[in-house]
Amino acid sequence: MTGRAFETADFASPEVGYGAAAARTAADHIRQHVGSDFATPVCGIVLGSGLGGLAERIANPVRIPFSHIPGFPVATVAGHAGQLLVGTLAKRPVVALAGRFHMYEGHDAALAAFPVRVLHALGAPVYVASNAAGGVRRTFSAGDLMCIVDHINLMYRNPLIGGVEPGDERFPDMSDPYDPALRALLRESAATVGVALHEGVYCGLLGPTYETPAEVRMLERLGVDAVGMSTVPEVIVARALGMRAVAVSCITNKAAGLTAERLSHAEVMEAGRAVAADFEALITEFVRRLP
Ligand code: HPA
Repeated sequence: MTGRAFETADFASPEVGYGAAAARTAADHIRQHVGSDFATPVCGIVLGSGLGGLAERIANPVRIPFSHIPGFPVATVAGHAGQLLVGTLAKRPVVALAGRFHMYEGHDAALAAFPVRVLHALGAPVYVASNAAGGVRRTFSAGDLMCIVDHINLMYRNPLIGGVEPGDERFPDMSDPYDPALRALLRESAATVGVALHEGVYCGLLGPTYETPAEVRMLERLGVDAVGMSTVPEVIVARALGMRAVAVSCITNKAAGLTAERLSHAEVMEAGRAVAADFEALITEFVRRLP
């Protein structure tokens, strides 16, 4: 009885389930699966809604379904293939995740950020996030790309709540959550490939509802440029681990109330696909330039 109770508590505890030890287990499994071809990645990339096409640019990929990775639940949101790829992009070793875990699926913040712990355990020094987002800045329209310079966490959750994981900072500094040098590299990459890249503040909300027009006006007054339902917990964990983070939002729609149009997930996916070529060229060039 005691053993059973312990096991249950152990498994149900996010600190144990999605922490450093679980990340090591997942990383060991991935390394073993890839075998002797595994090379330490220059970065780990998470591909947002509609942006999974970058996975096709990864050469010699070893694809691992999320369902085969210890600690990963099956991704549920439409448009997320739910697989991890190990291979090369611009001849540099990378690990990419097509799909992510959102809190609106019922996942804990620690689980939403767990893939970043796994990327860290695989040796990635840089975390590259991408997402679909609604444009709050009035001049933004569908198809714009925005480098995130800062974020506002309105998810009212933090993935670091609980015991301090080995290797984590207890009180991570968030003065520069998105690495200035990497942002500069992203700007240079955008110029090289001829892609317009805006910069702005991302706000993470829980979802799954899109915002009301009143919420969008509030966000505008708070200094938000783009709004979405991901990325924030991931970047918090990246910073706690000392990884350098950079992130790109693909503006898939004007936020609610800024046009007469209604929002739909299908529209978000379609806009993601429309900007995919620019996004892929940008990230490929960025990876080429990474130290
Ligand atoms: N709001 C929140 N998340 C989103 C949006 C939006 O308008 N578009 C794509 N993801």
